[in-house]
Amino acid sequence: MEKTHPIRELMDKESLTCLSVSHDWRSGRICWRASYEWDDSISWADYQKTFTIESCLAASPRYFGHATVLEMFGSNGSEDVRKEIEELLKAGRHQGIDFFREPSFDITFMNNMHSNILGIRNGMHAIRAGGIRRHPLADPEMEVIVDGLNLARAMSFKNGAAEIPFGGCKCTVHSDEISMGDMERLGFLAYCLDRSRFFTGPDMGFPPELADVFHEHFTANITGGKKGPLGPTGTPTAYGVYLAIKAAAEFRYGDPHLREKKVLIQGLGAVGYPLAELLIKKERCPLIVSDVDEAVIQRLKQDFPEADVTEVDPGVVLDTPADIFAPCAMGGIISDEEIPRLKYDIIFGSANNVLAAHSQEEEIALAKRLAERDILYQVEWVHNIAGVMAGYEEYMHGEEADRGRLYAHIERVCGEGVRENLREAERLGITPTEYAYRKIEKRIYPDLTPSS
Ligand code: PHE
Repeated sequence: MEKTHPIRELMDKESLTCLSVSHDWRSGRICWRASYEWDDSISWADYQKTFTIESCLAASPRYFGHATVLEMFGSNGSEDVRKEIEELLKAGRHQGIDFFREPSFDITFMNNMHSNILGIRNGMHAIRAGGIRRHPLADPEMEVIVDGLNLARAMSFKNGAAEIPFGGCKCTVHSDEISMGDMERLGFLAYCLDRSRFFTGPDMGFPPELADVFHEHFTANITGGKKGPLGPTGTPTAYGVYLAIKAAAEFRYGDPHLREKKVLIQGLGAVGYPLAELLIKKERCPLIVSDVDEAVIQRLKQDFPEADVTEVDPGVVLDTPADIFAPCAMGGIISDEEIPRLKYDIIFGSANNVLAAHSQEEEIALAKRLAERDILYQVEWVHNIAGVMAGYEEYMHGEEADRGRLYAHIERVCGEGVRENLREAERLGITPTEYAYRKIEKRIYPDLTPSS
């Protein structure tokens, strides 16, 4: 039988607290390492009080090199898993993954690293930026790894498009729900975050309060708390997506006003809800909404009793025609199979990785198929990026973070930047997705593309 959590099994069986794989996309070299670095007596709530990331936390720490880790995979019957991970890193040109594990909590913290090139000389503790999201333990581990790697790759490009000096990564925490009062588990996550040299912001599966608790007790490598200077990042993200939808409408219909346009929003969460609010307040356009949580739809209807809001079952979203489709929930929803039945003029939303692809090449191919069906789409990291822009503003300026500067930045990137992306792609006769990749990849893979 296929193992559902092979890395967890291997780490627990071999008593590993840390496992890491690094990959150099230039040479194709892969290096595995592992270690045992903390005993089970440690109290994670004391992180930054009685110990820091430099402290020795085990009576007998142990470190293992590449050859030994390969043997461990072999003797655990997990060769196929190791190879699958290596193939994923190669296909996506990723830097690697660091796994940190606390068996007493059954938590695996995964730092999925795509690239650090934009951040290596930024002078900060963090050289990468990416959200932190949680996957329930019921999700198979490989699904969590694939999600993290795809999101990490998107973050490299997102940070490049946002013009911020940070590489891309995404943190996936494989764990049962963690209460915001659970200082032991939160201390462990904060310790792993600080060892990973990225700044983060709460993503799916974590509330904004995570950032508040981390700031108060453990680390400043997180942004987007309720008590933070700019608040949760969903609101600015929604504003960027809203501007991008208007730019797309202008490009497609010659008019940025959306009053007559039916917009279908999948997911009324941290970004979908404020996006719906903006569309109702500023455009008064008819909305079709869908969410697995019925209560949030009722809340929208109650907040805006005059608005034209209809709802559809989450199972039939892709069968529901609309002028504009804004996916704001899970990624990977559109593959070759769905494309023939989609009835939209525009697909622009906030969800990361809407196209079910594992590499840039696959993504560009799917985007082409959408274009053949006359659907205007661009890879979403061009416009769902105001969350990390807000994170950047807060990370760099702390309490002096400035909303006016942030919103000017958003207007430039999600307004003018999107208009330019659509215009230039049309001029070159390629999809906006391909144009966006061509533009940013020069900076992410500088040795791959001839300098121009
Ligand atoms: N979670 C955000 C996204 O997916 C990115 C982010 C990173 C936000 C760091 C804040 C801080 O786009």
